[in-house]
Amino acid sequence: MDWKQGFTQEVYYSGSFLRLGGLLGEGGRLRQESGLQAQRAEEDAMAGQLAAEDGREQDGAVESVPLQTSEGRPYLACRGISKHFGAVQALTDVDLDLHLGEVVALVGDNGAGKSTLVKIISGTQTASSGTISVEGKEVSIRSPHDASAAGIETVYQDLALCDNLDVVANLFLGREQLLAPLVGSPLSEAEMERRTAAVLQSLHIRIPSVRALVGTLSGGQRQSTAVGRAVLWGSKVVLLDEPTAALGVAQQREVLDLVRRLRDQGLGVVLISHNLQQVFDVADRLVVLRLGRVAANVKGREVSAEEVVAYITGANVTGAAAHP
Ligand SMILES: Nc1ncnc2c1ncn2[C@@H]1O[C@H](COP(=O)(O)OP(=O)(O)O)[C@@H](O)[C@H]1O
Ligand SMILES: [Mg+2]
Repeated sequence: MDWKQGFTQEVYYSGSFLRLGGLLGEGGRLRQESGLQAQRAEEDAMAGQLAAEDGREQDGAVESVPLQTSEGRPYLACRGISKHFGAVQALTDVDLDLHLGEVVALVGDNGAGKSTLVKIISGTQTASSGTISVEGKEVSIRSPHDASAAGIETVYQDLALCDNLDVVANLFLGREQLLAPLVGSPLSEAEMERRTAAVLQSLHIRIPSVRALVGTLSGGQRQSTAVGRAVLWGSKVVLLDEPTAALGVAQQREVLDLVRRLRDQGLGVVLISHNLQQVFDVADRLVVLRLGRVAANVKGREVSAEEVVAYITGANVTGAAAHP
């Protein structure tokens, strides 16, 4: 057996983290499977504690921020992202990590800053301050093109699909020419059709025909088509802003299955959803935004829906977790 596998170290939070301990289960204990990771977690704990002491208690509600508990280097790391629109402070000092093969749900009340954060990562808005790193290297994302180049694709609420074109045309829209230098000439219709069918099949996306006009598809199929487009172009990260908001129950399930398949294919997914049940069904980790700040960053199986609601609303949770 690998020595690392046998070595488990537990890191206990102290000070203000103890008050949140119960929320993380068993006194806020963070299990790390290797010594190195434990050391990193310890450093994170110290950094997190400093941050907590540094005045995150301002609004007097949730008193400190649970630690990030995912392991390994994240594919995408946002640090200290702030954004203001004139006098409106939409985001303040937001950190977000996303690993490949991970689904992170971004939750929060209306106006919490979820869409703004996604827009910043996808290059349709720029942060007032903060950094974004991909695979450990800082990147400048100033346009959707920059985001694509960094392996990040976004499926927007309005989807940006063309109803009057078929599925194949939508998947290749605006990129036909990009391929020409690679393959010598623009792809043939038959080749585009083949690639479209292959990517849809790999994601178990069922549509009547790749030649169906997108305008004739159901909401779930349209959503799936938009996700298929992201996967076709080799993205590593897919950002989904409220993908199920306009869908019926069966279609919502289709989209959530698709999210799981993206994860199983090794992509990272950021999912914005108002539906906590869905969030718990599919997300590995939850990041709660409240008034533009990260109110919590927790593994899905380590919190209850009530606790998440408390983070979302800023209800006082300090009494819930008294622990020696
Ligand atoms: N383009 C904009 N101009 C001015 N204010 C904006 C703009 N976009 C978002 N905001 C404000 O930023 C805050 C966060 O909004 P948003 O990111 O849309 O929240 P969420 O997606 O969580 O509902 C809100 O107060 C919103 O009114
Ligand atoms: Mg929004």
